[in-house]
Amino acid sequence: MSTNSSTALITGGTSGIGRAVANKLAALGIHVIVVGRNAERGQKTVAEIRAAGGKADFISSDLQDASSAREVARRAVELGGGLVDILINNAGIYPFGPTHEMTEEMFEHAYALNVKAPYFLVAELAPLMAKKGKGAVVNLSTMVADYGAPGMSLYGSSKAAINLLTKVWAAEYGPSGVRVNAVSPGPTRGAGRPPGYTR
Ligand SMILES: NC(=O)c1ccc[n+]([C@@H]2O[C@H](COP(=O)([O-])OP(=O)(O)OC[C@H]3O[C@@H](n4cnc5c(N)ncnc54)[C@H](OP(=O)(O)O)[C@@H]3O)[C@@H](O)[C@H]2O)c1
Repeated sequence: MSTNSSTALITGGTSGIGRAVANKLAALGIHVIVVGRNAERGQKTVAEIRAAGGKADFISSDLQDASSAREVARRAVELGGGLVDILINNAGIYPFGPTHEMTEEMFEHAYALNVKAPYFLVAELAPLMAKKGKGAVVNLSTMVADYGAPGMSLYGSSKAAINLLTKVWAAEYGPSGVRVNAVSPGPTRGAGRPPGYTR
């Protein structure tokens, strides 16, 4: 991975996997911009990275629709001096449970954060990367996106959408030098918060 003056936008970079990624990229010399709703958690993440000699900023946002995603992209581009080189679509919620127990609100929230926000972040940022001729998008998926398991209808299907979008975006922006990949972690301990519907 390049360690030049790149800028990385990491949604959900204030906790769990996203926070670990933010720390790692910052240690490589990359300017990291982390996104989350909780300002205290965001400022703590940024302070720790800066104390270790890294460059970090926090954008507070409830990513739930196209306009919040576009606003995050706009502010990240501003903080990145005109470009975000790396987009990590990490923020996600995982509502587990049988289909008949899922509410419309849970459906809307899961698809808003897990699918709609990444979709419009890519729509804003990938064309800028393509224009520069390089960039990277990494989408956080899950192994349950690939097989049917009880209780995974909402979470698994939202991440299955991300798997397909990863392939589409690779086809759309890859020829212009933008790498698009998905990673599918196994069960990973986060910040001590229980897995589930945490909105
Ligand atoms: N942990 C696992 O075992 C596992 C396994 C496979 C895949 N994954 C995937 O990996 C990703 C990270 O999982 P994790 O367990 O590390 O997550 P986590 O610890 O629960 O952290 C979620 C992050 O997303 C942010 N977030 C949540 N809702 C948001 C919203 N509406 N707008 C903006 N930010 C929001 C949270 O910050 P705020 O609360 O401050 O908003 C937090 O920084 C997810 O996409 C998940 O599906 C996780």
